[in-house]
Amino acid sequence: MSISSFLTKKFLKSLFFPSHNRGKALPKGLIRLLKKKPGYWDLPELPEIGSPLSNSGLINDAQVSISKKVNSKKCFFGVNGASGLIQSGIIAMANPGEYILMPRNVHISVIKACALQNIIPIFFDIEFSTETGHFIPITKKWFKNVFKNIDFEKKKIVGVILVNPYYQGYATDLEPLIKICHHHDLPVLVDEAHGSYFLFCENINLPKSALRSKADLVVHSLHKSLNGLTQTAVIWHNGNLIDESNLIKSINLLQTTSPNSLLLSSCEESIKDWLNEDNLNKFKKRISEAKSIFKELIKRKIPLIQTQDPLKIVLNTSAVGIDGFTADRFFYKHGLIAELPEIMTLTFCLGFSNQKNFIFLFNKLWKKLLKNTNKSHDLKTIKPPFKLVQTPEIPIGIAWRSKTYNIPLAESLGKISGDIICPYPPGIPLIVPGERIDKERIDWIETQSLYNEDLLNSYIRVLHN
Ligand SMILES: Cc1ncc(COP(=O)(O)O)c(C=O)c1O
Repeated sequence: MSISSFLTKKFLKSLFFPSHNRGKALPKGLIRLLKKKPGYWDLPELPEIGSPLSNSGLINDAQVSISKKVNSKKCFFGVNGASGLIQSGIIAMANPGEYILMPRNVHISVIKACALQNIIPIFFDIEFSTETGHFIPITKKWFKNVFKNIDFEKKKIVGVILVNPYYQGYATDLEPLIKICHHHDLPVLVDEAHGSYFLFCENINLPKSALRSKADLVVHSLHKSLNGLTQTAVIWHNGNLIDESNLIKSINLLQTTSPNSLLLSSCEESIKDWLNEDNLNKFKKRISEAKSIFKELIKRKIPLIQTQDPLKIVLNTSAVGIDGFTADRFFYKHGLIAELPEIMTLTFCLGFSNQKNFIFLFNKLWKKLLKNTNKSHDLKTIKPPFKLVQTPEIPIGIAWRSKTYNIPLAESLGKISGDIICPYPPGIPLIVPGERIDKERIDWIETQSLYNEDLLNSYIRVLHN
């Protein structure tokens, strides 16, 4: 079967990204465009259009007008996902050899940018729930303690990265954390890939957006948390701690010379869609429906975990002795396609279309799952073994470029890694280049081996002594 044939495959219910739910919630402007003669709209960077970095043209106009409307100094569209713009943000913040403070659960794109530029991560640990297998949002108290444990004299820290909300929708109040960073003159980049829509929906009890919480750079994944096509993203710039010309230079460094006109139009339309009052009211209705779905499922005794993002339905499969992967396979087989299976949970993304029959289908399949699946009593997760504050022993970019050799992971104890090891779940980098492979992390992989069998038997590139 060709890829193009598969793309038209029907599923009973698509509860995954992109959030436009297979076109149902795409912005009208984009739908109109897609209905035109196929491919007609695929234009190069003509002077009238320009690019995200030009000073004139329709893209620049859109970026300027949108920034004004949301009170941001500037924004730039991106066609390489939130990943690409996070990487540009990092490069704008730090020079090679400088340090950035970041939580252990940063997206892998952060580690790759650090390896590329030899920007050295200072990781801080986060609390973890063994009941859900998820990281817990950072509190001010936790963050203050992290700062107390950092030697600012020895390390030239030039910025901080925060992730909010997490994949499953957990969010914290960012403002006090950003205030602590600003108190140290440190700019903050917030990876708000999963929370773009918070910016447009004030006063409906959603987490306060990173831009309103005074972050210096904020990256949104428009296909995850607005109605954009896959790969679309935006970076917002505020404050005076990041130099705009540096940001432009960094976006330019990583951006393709032929950004896709359809994707750029999708960036514009997906943001403008939320700035239109009628549409906003429609989306607010969707959010309120999502809250009702959650309440109704709880009423029906389905074990859900509440997070701060109403559009994520996090099913606690472990509460009934079923792991999230088994549940995922079951739901998939029956046409309900989820977004994120993990050891203890399965997360569904409601997206922005009407989910009328979701409760009925979900409830029916849940009952069937309970009836037809073997239960296990020893489902457990263990917190990944990280120290409160940890820096790779060898600068990440140097380790990444060093001569390495391959050995089985199980035999790599005590060696310095030349690789990123990113077990899934939890999908966060467990070991990065330059870190010494310690017993705790090998043991952790072994204890989680049911879900990391391939990893345990895999090879890792390590540095020569
Ligand atoms: C927290 C977080 N940040 C960034 C990204 C990257 O987003 P994108 O797929 O738009 O590149 C992801 C992707 O899963 C993510 O979960």
